[in-house]
Amino acid sequence: DKGLYRHYMLKEIYEQPDVIARVLEGRIHQGHVLEQVFGSGASELFDQVKMVQIVACGTSYNAGVVARYWIEKLVGIPCMVEVASEFRYRKTVCMPGTLFITISQSGETADTLSALREAKEQNYLGFLSICNVAGSSLVRESDLAIMTNAGPEIGVASTKAFTSQLVVLMLTTLVLARRYGFDGEQEIVAQLEQLIDLTEQVLALDPQIQKMAEHFVDKHHALFLGRGTIYPVAVEGALKLKEISYIHAEAYPAGELKHGPLALVDEDMPVVAIAPNNSLLEKLQANLEEVRARGGKLFLFADSKAQVKPGNDLELITLPDVPTVMAPIIYSIPLQLLAYYVACLKGTDVDQPRNLAKSVTVE
Ligand code: M6R
Repeated sequence: DKGLYRHYMLKEIYEQPDVIARVLEGRIHQGHVLEQVFGSGASELFDQVKMVQIVACGTSYNAGVVARYWIEKLVGIPCMVEVASEFRYRKTVCMPGTLFITISQSGETADTLSALREAKEQNYLGFLSICNVAGSSLVRESDLAIMTNAGPEIGVASTKAFTSQLVVLMLTTLVLARRYGFDGEQEIVAQLEQLIDLTEQVLALDPQIQKMAEHFVDKHHALFLGRGTIYPVAVEGALKLKEISYIHAEAYPAGELKHGPLALVDEDMPVVAIAPNNSLLEKLQANLEEVRARGGKLFLFADSKAQVKPGNDLELITLPDVPTVMAPIIYSIPLQLLAYYVACLKGTDVDQPRNLAKSVTVE
């Protein structure tokens, strides 16, 4: 039931504070992540993890890419991420001690399921599934599983599934990191608990985002830029826009601009940039000036510490202060709203975009 919302997608975007609360419920005790929530035998298995291989599709894959940054930074072990349709059909090499993680909202995505089955023929340490549907094929066929507790997601464009996957991926990162001497767990758990409030604050930017959306209605292309953990957030923002508004959107790590995409920048190519406060902010700012120098119009979601010259070529939405590690979760929300309002203005079928199915059970 959509309730008072015009579309399921908008309802699901607005559910995110509650969803995050549900993801954390029963998973945290005295500032620490409980390991039993991953299933029986989880602790023994986690003790042996030396490497991680993540496999997923679409939005779930984008969540996996964020997790790669987190795992390599906070755990300090190698993490690889691949789309399931590639992984399943190529010869892959499994290093001893590798934990195989699948991420899926539905748990029925054909490619992800087949990738898991392929991987089971190799000597992976174990198989963990991060999923929103208990009792799905993916969960049944994995050794360990942790639910994202997002509730049913009806809109084809994944929103709350993505943020809930990110929260679960952070819980997973923390249980692995404690085995490698990471001492910041309590701090990060406290930040996870603050997410609920931050999500509410970001949702309150809705009217500003709705206004920003007007600039995209007559556009045919858009470029999304981010760096570090925010690069996959840019990819996810571009995916949302193309899926529901049919505007061709591409995401690039901002540092790649000069290696090609800068050639596309002109007044008809809106550039959406995501600039939380992190160690790459200055570098990103320099990239953004390159865009402006080429006549590109910038749509910026930024921390208050970002320094950008005001101008007619800039539409800026300032986000509340967000702890750096939490930025991918928080900054994905305005991009969902942007895609949503552009699609509404264009009059496309938001919840059921053409040619797409909610669950891709055939390859
Ligand atoms: O159910 P899954 O998470 O396995 O689905 C994977 C993709 O099909 C899905 O995320 C798709 O990309 C969404 N429509 C994106 O919004």
